[in-house]
Amino acid sequence: MDRQVDDWAWMKEKKFSKMFKEIEHRLEGVLGVGKFEWVDRRVFDQVFDQRTLLAVYKLMQQGHIETLDWPIARGKEAHVFHATTPNGVAAVKIFHTSNAVFKGLMQYIEGDPRFGGLRRRHHELVNIWVRKEHRNMMRMAKVGLRVPEPHALFRNILVMDYLGNAEGPSPRLRDVEVSDPEAVVEELLEWLRICWNDAKLVHADFSEYNILWHNEKPRVIDVGQSVAKEHPHADEFLVRDVTRLVEWGQRQGVAIELADAMAHVIFE
Ligand SMILES: Nc1ncnc2c1ncn2[C@@H]1O[C@H](COP(=O)(O)OP(=O)(O)O)[C@@H](O)[C@H]1O
Ligand SMILES: [Mg+2]
Repeated sequence: MDRQVDDWAWMKEKKFSKMFKEIEHRLEGVLGVGKFEWVDRRVFDQVFDQRTLLAVYKLMQQGHIETLDWPIARGKEAHVFHATTPNGVAAVKIFHTSNAVFKGLMQYIEGDPRFGGLRRRHHELVNIWVRKEHRNMMRMAKVGLRVPEPHALFRNILVMDYLGNAEGPSPRLRDVEVSDPEAVVEELLEWLRICWNDAKLVHADFSEYNILWHNEKPRVIDVGQSVAKEHPHADEFLVRDVTRLVEWGQRQGVAIELADAMAHVIFE
């Protein structure tokens, strides 16, 4: 994700440099300065373009973020940060407003007078994706499913409960050995059942990578791609989610079959 040198020119503009000075000390953890010297400064360059910094500024003004502390994880679509808020801590998921593929395509479209506003439309799409994750979380939480509770959202940024402790985030199910896998399978099957029957949603990327092991319990995350039952591929996604769980269980030595698991999720 190379940036051109003049990508930062806007920062020299008076109003932006003033704004940045105001929040700079609250971003030390992502700038890699002070006690955060160990943080890779390139993260900042990848994530914080003008729009994103403005959105962070806004969330800080609204009191949802006090400081952005350190990067928890980086993915293709988003970076997740640990943040401190006036009420405690939070996880802040910041979606990339652009990526290498998009940038590659754009150089052949931008500047062609027949196709304008591509960048804006792309930003809108990213913002819709964030709103979708937020709405999915709310809808799941409403029926009692344990997901990180969302605190706030603005443009490409989602603020939610932080699952972890001062040392770091809770590990993914992928990275732990659980002592009672049968109970975990049971609990997650129940999660899928309630999600399907009560929230009327399919997670659609249900895997040991998107489940955190938090306080000895599984916690499902990453629900941006979750879709409503009415989605034409909802059934297919549901079967895939259940299959992943069944396969995980079988690898842990749990006696469970896909047909029974599916029946439980759909009929009980
Ligand atoms: N609420 C949270 N609390 C703690 N860590 C989180 C939280 N949400 C995400 N993470 C961490 O960030 C990683 C990526 O988040 P995820 O939502 O799965 O995004 P992606 O779309 O990049 O997969 C997770 O694997 C987890 O380690
Ligand atoms: Mg994920």
